[in-house]
Amino acid sequence: MLPTILAIESSCDDTSIAILKDDAILVNLVASQKIHEEYGGIVPEVASRQHLKNIIPTISHAIKESGIQLSDFQAIAVTKGPGLLGSLVVGVNVAKALALSLDVPLIEVNHMKAHVLAHFIDDPKPAFPFLCLTVSGGHTQIVMVRDFLDLEVIGQTRDDAAGEAYDKSGKLLGLPYPAGPLIDKYAAQGEVKYSFTEPKIDGLDFSFSGMKTAIRYFLRDSLKENQRFIEENMNDICASIQFSINSFLRNKLIKASEETGIKEIAIAGGVSANKGLRKMLTEEADKQNWNFYIPQFQYCTDNAAMIVKASVYYYEKGIFSDLKMKPSARMPIS
Ligand code: KG4
Ligand code: ZN
Repeated sequence: MLPTILAIESSCDDTSIAILKDDAILVNLVASQKIHEEYGGIVPEVASRQHLKNIIPTISHAIKESGIQLSDFQAIAVTKGPGLLGSLVVGVNVAKALALSLDVPLIEVNHMKAHVLAHFIDDPKPAFPFLCLTVSGGHTQIVMVRDFLDLEVIGQTRDDAAGEAYDKSGKLLGLPYPAGPLIDKYAAQGEVKYSFTEPKIDGLDFSFSGMKTAIRYFLRDSLKENQRFIEENMNDICASIQFSINSFLRNKLIKASEETGIKEIAIAGGVSANKGLRKMLTEEADKQNWNFYIPQFQYCTDNAAMIVKASVYYYEKGIFSDLKMKPSARMPIS
């Protein structure tokens, strides 16, 4: 019988609750923390306090909306890591309390694995083995996915993540956090006029710190010539930054596909919501004969639907966690 599961995701700054029944996502609620905008980035202490404030109301709301009784849940799933420790602690402890009081198993889920497995929520679903470019605020990885629970990172960033490259570039432009969605919006109205050299890094790894420095110097020099350079050219600057970051991601993905011979290609994580990246890779897929998979927007950024979906594969194998389980800020995908 298909399980009814409630999942909690609290790895960063979003408190999310999802409920799955008969393999369908009944609800996927996300309480976002706007408060970090005023700090220009996520403040871990503030994030965990916000999770504490939001988590019980969000669970109550989700249960009410789904029409499921508490006694109907067969398991409780939760993100164990990677993420901010103080944020993870809130979700993990609430999940433990629910599992204990309902006398149902607790299932720990790896956040990065869940981003990849979000592809199995809707059709079309990728076939194994496939490659997934997972691009978020904390990670940039090319993952070889052999089976639901058999994943291997074959390339990753050595410094900043792609999302950080977006957010830090946005900060230089005076945009609020998170700047990724704003750069995406302005880029759609601009042209690629400026170029930032692609980082030279071996194999399938990434590096974004050099690009960030190049953008900083470019803006500094341009502002010396014209103090209003940023405000007068915001759309074109955003289009150029977006193009540079995305081209780098695309080129490594092409290399990964060539090296592995795999043409089933997927993208996941917050940056996969970027319209420029979705368009660029859809066009590349045509050229390269890839079967290309992009999740719905709501399953790109952090959400508990991906956690509940991933938890089913553990449930089916009877892989459950001890109530002594501790959250893990740095948790490898396998
Ligand atoms: O996966 P996610 O929601 O959280 C983490 O696990 O980190 O990713 C958040 C990241 C942020 O850096 C945000 O700026 C970026 O994803 N992001 C975007 C877009 N939407 C979210 N970056 C570029 N374009 C977007 N449309
Ligand atoms: Zn994430």
